[in-house]
Amino acid sequence: MPHYRRFSDASVSEKILDTMFLITIGLGYLFALAHTYFSHEGRDGQVGLSVEDVKIAYYGEHQQTRLGAALNGGMDANLETPEQKQVIVDWIEGGTDKDEFENKIAPILNNNCIGCHSLEAEMGLPPLTSYEEVKTLTRADTGASVESLVRVSHIHLFGIAFILFFVGRIFILCEMPVMIKRVTVAVPFLAILVDILSWYITKYIPGFAFVVVLAGGLMGISLTIQILVSMYQMWLYKPDVEPIEM
Ligand code: HEC
Repeated sequence: MPHYRRFSDASVSEKILDTMFLITIGLGYLFALAHTYFSHEGRDGQVGLSVEDVKIAYYGEHQQTRLGAALNGGMDANLETPEQKQVIVDWIEGGTDKDEFENKIAPILNNNCIGCHSLEAEMGLPPLTSYEEVKTLTRADTGASVESLVRVSHIHLFGIAFILFFVGRIFILCEMPVMIKRVTVAVPFLAILVDILSWYITKYIPGFAFVVVLAGGLMGISLTIQILVSMYQMWLYKPDVEPIEM
């Protein structure tokens, strides 16, 4: 009978190396989760990360502009009258004409907004002191650009392929029924491929946001299982049977 490698054949140095690697990857994964949380949380105006936040990140809010959203979201409290809000909304919907901006919009912003929204105010807020600056806040929000998705995709695919490969190499030294092992090493790769593909689909079909969340979750769960089961078997598990087929 051919001999397959198992943790029981590995030297202690090898196991220490594997363990340090798995701990570092596990920690890196937790930071990646925290990063995901902080970069998408609250997009929908609610505290916490939800499928709605993911939808807004990739698809955007097509009927909404950043300026319009801010006025609906409380910035209108800085205006003197509700009519001023209507003037700004009409200007956005009318196509953001430059002359109209100078005549009607700039005076309102100068009186009510630039105290905070200017470089001089040093509040780190988008300035509202010129036509160009305000104009950039009046484009429809169409979510992440394809260009930025491509950039993030290639980094993710290269990086995660290495992580999953090495974690999987360690994991196949475990003792367990062969079908479970075969499925467990394949699942995280399939999940990350579906996850990244669904970013692009969500950009055009917002209902797909839940697939992004499901596939991302599946990848995380399968990675966590591989790390924990590997560490358990490496140090605590004593096989009492002949190693079974790989
Ligand atoms: C007292 C200071 C203050 C004034 C005055 C003020 N803002 Fe703001 N504005 C903020 C702060 C702080 C934020 C960021 C936090 C938030 O979104 O509530 C913000 C956010 C915004 C945003 C969202 C920026 C983004 O990143 O999408 C817009 C647009 C905006 N304000 C427009 C206005 C307009 C228009 C006025 C005038 C009617 C105005 N603000 C007056 C403090 C101010």
